[in-house]
Amino acid sequence: MKWVMAMLAMLMSGNAVAEAEPARQLFEGRCAICHQLPEPDMLNARQWRMVMITMQKRMQQSNMPALTDDEFQFVLDYLVKNVH
Ligand code: HEC
Repeated sequence: MKWVMAMLAMLMSGNAVAEAEPARQLFEGRCAICHQLPEPDMLNARQWRMVMITMQKRMQQSNMPALTDDEFQFVLDYLVKNVH
């Protein structure tokens, strides 16, 4: 019986919600420093990419480390997936 539970836990930890968690934390941690946290559904995918590129510049101008390429992609994917 124990192994069934372990298998279930493994399956559940691999689902999309668990994967979105670090991206959400990154978004909430990094995108609410200079202004309120934006709503993911306020822009479409193309607009988000453009805004994210601008935000990278805003962070650099404020002597803040910009997102790494991976972080940039995580946050962008998160925003685009949450567009309703
Ligand atoms: C260093 C400060 C800073 C950080 C960090 C920051 N922003 Fe911004 N953000 C700004 C400023 C300043 C503006 C005002 C508009 C502009 O400069 O383009 C803005 C505007 C925006 C807007 C409105 C865009 C528009 O065209 O009206 C959105 C959406 C946005 N930010 C999203 C984000 C997201 C997503 C992140 C995280 C990846 C983020 N911001 C992180 C400074 C920041």
